[in-house]
Amino acid sequence: MIRMYDLIEKKKHGEELTGEEIREMVRGFVSGEIPDYQMSAMLMAIYFRGMSAAETTRLTMEMAHSGDTADLSSIRGIKVDKHSTGGVGDKTSLVIGPLTASLGVKIAKMSGRGLGHTGGTLDKLESIPGLTTSIEKDRFFEIVNRTGIAIIGQTGNMVPADKKLYALRDVTATVDSVPLIASSIMSKKLAAGSDAIVLDVKTGSGAFMKTLEESIALAKEMVAIGTGAGRVCCALITDMDVPLGRAIGNAMEVAEAVQTLKNQGPEDLTEVCLQLAANMLCLAEKGTLQECYAMAKEAMETGRGVDVLAAMVKAQGGDERYIYDPSLFAPAPYERQVLAPRDGYVVQIDTAGCGIASTMLGAGRAKKEDAINYSAGIYLHKKYGDPVKKGDVLAVLHASDEALFDGAERRFLDSYVIGDAPAAEKRHIYARVTAEGVERY
Ligand code: URA
Repeated sequence: MIRMYDLIEKKKHGEELTGEEIREMVRGFVSGEIPDYQMSAMLMAIYFRGMSAAETTRLTMEMAHSGDTADLSSIRGIKVDKHSTGGVGDKTSLVIGPLTASLGVKIAKMSGRGLGHTGGTLDKLESIPGLTTSIEKDRFFEIVNRTGIAIIGQTGNMVPADKKLYALRDVTATVDSVPLIASSIMSKKLAAGSDAIVLDVKTGSGAFMKTLEESIALAKEMVAIGTGAGRVCCALITDMDVPLGRAIGNAMEVAEAVQTLKNQGPEDLTEVCLQLAANMLCLAEKGTLQECYAMAKEAMETGRGVDVLAAMVKAQGGDERYIYDPSLFAPAPYERQVLAPRDGYVVQIDTAGCGIASTMLGAGRAKKEDAINYSAGIYLHKKYGDPVKKGDVLAVLHASDEALFDGAERRFLDSYVIGDAPAAEKRHIYARVTAEGVERY
């Protein structure tokens, strides 16, 4: 029997934990023998001391096998999964899932809810009336076989170690750690059972990893874990220094995803979606990366993903009319324009700050048990690089309670820096990481 105290002491001094110690620690924590206060101390020690590749891989495997795992063999074809490390305005799953499914890829996806300043796919989907993300296994498989795609929450007893660790990390300031993010994401992806995994590793002010080098390190670690576990895996490092698209907030993001599926979406979101979709198609052996990009673009131009999304929504109990006509989403009863305080250019955005402002309007949770207001959020009229005149509308805030506006507006305005000179150009995609190495763009 391990003594958790000794393991904390060991990690505090930067020593490597053995595989056996990690196994016992995960088991003890899931069973409740190891209390939250000791695991919190361990998480902070890991945050400061890091973990070796061997330790991170072992932690991932123990977490992946801490509960049930999915056997997707009853779904025909190559199953491809995708996971983002989390961002603001990141509705890519709602676009590339249906888009790649329309091209014959099977998407059996388990998604998450919002965390901190970031949004979550499940919350966005649940803004569609009637839709459920809580679906039992056989029905999940049946929907994927029939429509090509289903997106559900972590079912029953899957990866309980991550559920507990995630909740603890969220309140102990230990989210932004490479081994902890890598093991959290990859344990879920391995347990979810897809053959191939595309990782969208965000970088910048709205991401958990703020610098490109940290993001590349995280991507390398995750790709190595996935490859070591026998999955085909690659990662794109994509920009999160600026919110993705213009909509932040659940129902507004679904509407923007539909627009993008019809090739009428914002340029940054469209390009990130096409690149991610191309990588998913490529891992599903549909062609070279260039061919797959052309296929994804053609599918977007013909809008064929819209029918797939509508079919998935219907199969999951939702009202598919909202996909064909997103104007059906009831708008929030109140809105407030945020005006530019001076002339200039938007030269910097604290994207996490924008995410927090939207949470303050009711689009996210401040506490785990908080209810979400699906119509709340922010629509951005000016983004990074745009010239502005004093009094121009930077953004429109949406909420169900006018009292929420003052605080959220202050937070939002603090997040936008308006400078005198035009801003430097920014890329949407910085690098691609595969088992073979890192390709920087
Ligand atoms: N997303 C996850 O699933 N886990 C993390 O730790 C961070 C983002």
